[in-house]
Amino acid sequence: MQFKSFKIGNYLIEKPIIQGGMGVGISWDQLAGSVSKEGGLGVISTVGTGYYQYPKYFDITKNGRPNPIECNSEEALIEIYKNARKICGDKPLAANIMFALSGYKESVLSACKAGTDIIISGAGLPINLPELTKDYPNVALIPIVSSARALKVICMKWKRKGKIPDAVIVEGPKSGGHQGFHSVEECLLDENQLEIIVPQVIEEAKKWGNFPIIAAGGIWDKTDIEYYIKIGCSAVQMGTRFVATHECDAPSFYKQAVIDCKEEDIFLGGSPVGFPSRKIKNKLTNAIEHDLTNNVKSNKDRLAPPINCVSNCVLPCEHGKGARKVGFCIADRLSDTILERKDTAMFFIGSNGYRVKNLLSVKELMNKLTYGE
Ligand SMILES: Cc1cc2nc3c(=O)[nH]c(=O)nc-3n(C[C@H](O)[C@H](O)[C@H](O)COP(=O)(O)O)c2cc1C
Repeated sequence: MQFKSFKIGNYLIEKPIIQGGMGVGISWDQLAGSVSKEGGLGVISTVGTGYYQYPKYFDITKNGRPNPIECNSEEALIEIYKNARKICGDKPLAANIMFALSGYKESVLSACKAGTDIIISGAGLPINLPELTKDYPNVALIPIVSSARALKVICMKWKRKGKIPDAVIVEGPKSGGHQGFHSVEECLLDENQLEIIVPQVIEEAKKWGNFPIIAAGGIWDKTDIEYYIKIGCSAVQMGTRFVATHECDAPSFYKQAVIDCKEEDIFLGGSPVGFPSRKIKNKLTNAIEHDLTNNVKSNKDRLAPPINCVSNCVLPCEHGKGARKVGFCIADRLSDTILERKDTAMFFIGSNGYRVKNLLSVKELMNKLTYGE
């Protein structure tokens, strides 16, 4: 199959491949700029931009961990966009902004100011996104859903404000990082698998307009992309394969952990966000497991790093309550990647991560995905 370009709002995407937004600091200027340059859609993660070019935007020695404003720095996000534009010029670029973030509204406005063309928003239902972006009518809006019901709720709310989605991403339970399902059991149900939920979302979308459907979660190669295009999608979103590129903004120890991991090292566990998350088993996750199994509650007795909420980064965590329940702070563990604290960094990954054998350039990967191995 020869792939076709497709449109998101006014923006033409040459190849039907979106690189999923990956926080903290996994998809910034280098990765997103390179993907857009190669004709896909590069997506910049807006979470934790204060860590960009660390320690330029916040001084950890002064503040310990950053508060939400320092953490999601607008100044840094503007610089990330400028640097991505140096790579991809005027080609479309998107921002990934999680609805569960405590600074959601501020991040949306910062992304618009930074000159994003498209906003992709999941981790909750982004029902107020059209209002927040009303001064930026050229910014296309894409929700991420894991069910037809979620798309219905979003369309009902958005329609009242005169908006329909410019596209929708349907994410199934094989994806990297957080899942759109409430429990590990729900992630494993046949009825929740991507190939089942995509046709349901396509049917729901038809009731609201004619916008592209994009499948995500566990998509590996050209054959997988062809499958989702054949059943009615316009494109796919992929995360894990883009982690294993030279241009990916993650430090090399993260990429090496992906190359080294085996199928049995990838597992679904809890997260303070309240949804299961998929990650690589390592010394850190073993320590967390030990603390949970032995009911260790105090910071001084934990094998895993202490839990001290500074930033109230995600609303569902309720200032550390969720973190204490699952044994780790998500902001600290994900941002330790950027701080190069290898032993306390958490590695999100998709269920196909063990298939990564080596690093490729974004150009090589895009060619493989577009023209086959
Ligand atoms: C390391 C990593 C971090 C991620 N961070 C985010 C994020 O911040 N926001 C989000 O909406 N999705 C996030 N995702 C999901 C990806 O955007 C993408 O949808 C998913 O990885 C697709 O599944 P795949 O990895 O099997 O290709 C992340 C995925 C990975 C692997």
